[in-house]
Amino acid sequence: MPRPKSSNPRTRVTNIRLTEEERSEFMKAASACGFDSISEYVRHLHFRNQSSPPPGTNNDFKKKFPAKTVRKFYEAEYGKILWGDSRAYALNIAEPASVDLIVTSPPFGLVRKKSYGNEDADKYCDWFRPFAEGFHRILKDSGSLVVDIGGAWVPGQPTRSLYHFKLLVMLVEEFGFHLCQEHYWWNPSKLPTPAEWVNIRRVRVKDAVNSIWWLSKTPFPKANNKRILQPYSKSMESLLKNGYKAKLRPSGHDISTKFNRDNGGSVPPNLLAVANTESNGSYQAHCRNENIPIHPARFPSQLPEYFIRFLTNPGDLVVDPFGGSCVTGVVAENLKRRWVCVEMSEEYLLGAKGRFVPQLQPLLRDSKMSYQIPAPCSQTVDENEIKLFEDGGRKRPTKRSKEKIDSASQENDA
Ligand SMILES: C[S@@+](CC[C@H](N)C(=O)[O-])C[C@H]1O[C@@H](n2cnc3c(N)ncnc32)[C@H](O)[C@@H]1O
Repeated sequence: MPRPKSSNPRTRVTNIRLTEEERSEFMKAASACGFDSISEYVRHLHFRNQSSPPPGTNNDFKKKFPAKTVRKFYEAEYGKILWGDSRAYALNIAEPASVDLIVTSPPFGLVRKKSYGNEDADKYCDWFRPFAEGFHRILKDSGSLVVDIGGAWVPGQPTRSLYHFKLLVMLVEEFGFHLCQEHYWWNPSKLPTPAEWVNIRRVRVKDAVNSIWWLSKTPFPKANNKRILQPYSKSMESLLKNGYKAKLRPSGHDISTKFNRDNGGSVPPNLLAVANTESNGSYQAHCRNENIPIHPARFPSQLPEYFIRFLTNPGDLVVDPFGGSCVTGVVAENLKRRWVCVEMSEEYLLGAKGRFVPQLQPLLRDSKMSYQIPAPCSQTVDENEIKLFEDGGRKRPTKRSKEKIDSASQENDA
């Protein structure tokens, strides 16, 4: 029987110039994958890299999260709180290319479930895909996507999950976002966790930073670091006051007289030191008075404030798709940016309303607070006395060995 005619015949021929060695390597690789020809092999490589549709073309997500599942909960002067699933907002409600900044903290991929339903670290990327699709759709070319995300520990082991790095790689490689700069949020008031590995077995250190992935749709989103300067250090202040003689540094680097110029503050590093200690603000009072649960995973207002000031102008549109207690909304309202917070839980929104009524909660004004990071290894230690745990913490210390460890570490902590 004659072979049926293909509706899409392979009539086009393309030459690829290869060296003799390359040709034989390609042939070897092709036959190792079960292909008879280099053409089949190249086609296979191409389609393997195209397994997911390009952003903006996945209609299944659009259908799955219809607009009708979202409704308005509260409206302030500059923005509004929406109650519902932010996938519906990003895929079907917001105008395409209308948002200047998405700044948010999604539920982290924890191994133990928290009350607001963290996602399983292993399936995190699959869960995040429709959000990523929607975020790409609504961001302007000049806009930024900022995701604050905490790491997770592998259960029962002193090792870390890679889920938040995988999320970053997915956003860049699958959705075409650009990584502008990673930031780290150091919470100086964080308790030493995880206690098992930090305090009991003593084989890891305090886990006190969250990653913040700052991404954008194009490599050149709008930004200006002069908006977020930090106070000069004491030594820089004195240098500005007393002058500086231009000279060669030991490295041979020529520090010019421009170093003397007062620019109003210094450019901050990508390590944001902000304690998350607010426990008696008007939000908490409102929740207590109304018997509403206080959101257990709020971020400090200084985080959205930093990115909103850095990356947007008054009147721009800021969106937090995992609104929680609407910290982003209240900061944006104070800074006169238009804003939308979307949150699924009504309970959290009842609490969030307390940030706006009876009056708008003002921005915190302790932003001049500074922290010192003491140098590690600054304590004298007798290494014959303080032994390494050769088993890497596999065994819990016995009571006796723990007493010995504790007394040694107390000496160190003193
Ligand atoms: C880490 S919390 C955000 C807390 C917030 N940054 C704050 O400071 O209050 C994540 C929030 O995302 C909400 N959430 C999870 N999935 C959602 C979805 N599909 N749409 C809207 N909100 C969602 C959760 O209910 C939770 O309140």
